[in-house]
Amino acid sequence: MAEVKKIAVIAGDGIGPEVVAEAEKILKRTEELYGYSFETEHVLFGGIAIDEKGTPLPEDTLKVCKSADAVLLGAVGGPKWDSNPKELRPETGLLGIRKELGLFSNLRPAVIFDCLKDASTLKPEVLEGTDLMVVRELTGGIYFGEKFRREGEGGQEAVDTCVYNVQEVERIVRQAFEIAQKRRKKLASVDKANVLETSRLWREVVNRVAPEYPDVELEHVLVDNCAMQLLRRPSSFDVIVTENMFGDILSDEAAMLTGSIGMLASASLGEGSFGLYEPVHGSAPDIAGQGLANPIATILSVALMFRLTFGYDKAADAIEKAVAEVLDAGHRTADIAVDKSQALSTSEMGDLIAAAMK
Ligand code: IPM
Ligand code: MG
Repeated sequence: MAEVKKIAVIAGDGIGPEVVAEAEKILKRTEELYGYSFETEHVLFGGIAIDEKGTPLPEDTLKVCKSADAVLLGAVGGPKWDSNPKELRPETGLLGIRKELGLFSNLRPAVIFDCLKDASTLKPEVLEGTDLMVVRELTGGIYFGEKFRREGEGGQEAVDTCVYNVQEVERIVRQAFEIAQKRRKKLASVDKANVLETSRLWREVVNRVAPEYPDVELEHVLVDNCAMQLLRRPSSFDVIVTENMFGDILSDEAAMLTGSIGMLASASLGEGSFGLYEPVHGSAPDIAGQGLANPIATILSVALMFRLTFGYDKAADAIEKAVAEVLDAGHRTADIAVDKSQALSTSEMGDLIAAAMK
């Protein structure tokens, strides 16, 4: 008998519960096919936790996540909570869970699926061969620096501080180098070193550790230039490593290159094998509860979990192959369908992918 892996499941808000249900079918199918054993525990988080428990990140949710081997997250947030005070916003829960679980590294791959290359707003010849990974620092920088208001000469002032220390930069940069070593061995470190002190420190650290990874070709790219190069020559990027806010912005841009944000998975990692896995897309409240959501990003997040946390590479491959096979056979959910009348529902797509796994 394989060791039982504990997975904390956060279905969350909007389409979260629907896409997570399909990912759970994949877990079940993996148990049948490979003899692995998963124990899932559903916990409240985000908007639904605000409604039911009065806080986006309840203590017991955190406890279950901390004692699990991995967390699977659907999506959180929605207009219902958008005008709430800061403590009662799903986003605050998201930042809290990242910090509490020590998830300093956020991996967001952007891959063009061959059969969907016309879905992008960019010309297919520009996109040809694009397969990149944004490695975003997730627990530091301006997101977590001191924030306050004060009276100034021009009226009220608002202050957000951006702080990075050497250790925070070094651990994410090393991880990015290691990821690059397993890919096409190219790393773009993105900063704003011509203006920001945190970026100058960032660049110093990158240059100090770079000689330890002589097989990786390194380039420093200023963030504004990177935003441009992503549209101009996306396929020339392999791994991009950057600080929290630049990574937030660039990863959305990179996701849109693929034209199919409903297809992209992500992983948030800390020091050990523990990770939180979630689709890149949001909670899409406008289509929630209608069976219209594309479950593929969440299903591919399970594949990432298998590979990065459990080391179940074969099962991860099986999921990815099944997704490719189902897409190649022409099956589509509404977001990626040309003929919407032929589109599959969320659960039909999940069933087909589970059945295609071997
Ligand atoms: C993301 C999101 C979050 C972020 C928001 C919802 C707080 O945009 O995960 O990219 O900015 O990190
Ligand atoms: Mg974002």
